[in-house]
Amino acid sequence: MSKAVQYELQLARRMSRLGTETAFEVLNRARALERQGRSIIHLEIGEPDFDTPANVIEAGVNAMRSGWTHYGPAAGQPELRQALAEYVSRTRSVKVTPDEVVVVPGGKPIIFFTILSFIDEGDEVIYPNPGFPIYESMINYVGGRAVPIRLREDRDFSLDVDELASLITDRTKLIILNSPQNPTGGILSRRDIERIASAIGERNIMVLADEIYSRLLFDGEQHFSIMSVPGMQERTILLDGFSKTYAMTGWRMGYGVMRADLAAQFTRLMTNSNSCTASFTQVAGVEAIRGDQSSVEHMRDQFQKRRDVFVAGLNKIKGFSCRMPKGAFYVFPNITQTGWKSKRLEEALLNEAGVAALSGTSFGAFGEGYLRFSVANSLENLQEALHRLDQWTKKNL
Ligand SMILES: Cc1ncc(COP(=O)(O)O)c(C=O)c1O
Repeated sequence: MSKAVQYELQLARRMSRLGTETAFEVLNRARALERQGRSIIHLEIGEPDFDTPANVIEAGVNAMRSGWTHYGPAAGQPELRQALAEYVSRTRSVKVTPDEVVVVPGGKPIIFFTILSFIDEGDEVIYPNPGFPIYESMINYVGGRAVPIRLREDRDFSLDVDELASLITDRTKLIILNSPQNPTGGILSRRDIERIASAIGERNIMVLADEIYSRLLFDGEQHFSIMSVPGMQERTILLDGFSKTYAMTGWRMGYGVMRADLAAQFTRLMTNSNSCTASFTQVAGVEAIRGDQSSVEHMRDQFQKRRDVFVAGLNKIKGFSCRMPKGAFYVFPNITQTGWKSKRLEEALLNEAGVAALSGTSFGAFGEGYLRFSVANSLENLQEALHRLDQWTKKNL
């Protein structure tokens, strides 16, 4: 053949419906500015700035040295499934057995598998907005109908249960709940969760309870799961993981807890996609769950201190007003008084003030009027970010 043929990329139609997580795009833009010599404070990415606890690293390294470098069972190592079943039984006051646990590479695959398993074209999924963007992306990808439930600032970013009830139709197959919540730091109270369960009633609707921030609660707040509501366990898929709790984002390990017949279906999806979660990672996971938990407490205390400083600082900045988040490590100030749209403000703050944040619209249409800052950064950097924001607003507003 003499002349190279140009082949058009003929992607499946569904690929045009796949969304993304803009945090990684903003990170790339921030890194490009840094390569030009600019100083950027990174408050865009949602991951703990702490190292994985030493006992967990030790367990992972030892596991690699002792041969945990091969394929393992698709649903996870039996010892880890056992440890997780005990942990979830204890923390959610339910009885969970190991065959109801599926270990996967991160929390995200549980979102992916839930939507792939339940949603046919036209099926409706109610999901929080502003919310983790992967929910909406995946619903659209499979051709489902994305039905947003608005999280309301005047309710500390909880939802209005009556409004949620009004969105339920005969086509509703799945409701996604996320508490503590990304991006707002809001939580669902026990009372609201019980009212949501009543609104669902005896309908055959599944609930994906994304509880990946369940150990990151402040001011003595207690976590409550819809799985704990009598009658809901069979219809709940609990998503939790190691990324946020143990600062293990790069290890890629999370899990889902669900009825055993569904766990068998998720296991088939694992066999078809990943084969299994990395074996040595899972050995480290057993140590994380069963070992010393003091690093979890330490991280939570640090996030709470930083949250306090950052929220107080933001509330002194012209045009910003910020509620006190009750969990996770994000703050979500209202910026409507700046007179700027969220996306434009995100860009200006990155390019001109050297502060990387995310536009609220990265989390859905109801995020307009807000920015998300991650407080997973040092107090020193957070204070410098506040200083830069203050200077920038004084000059530009
Ligand atoms: C609400 C929520 N769910 C799930 C995930 C996914 O976590 P993982 O990195 O373990 O896949 C994240 C990560 O940012 C999140 O914020």
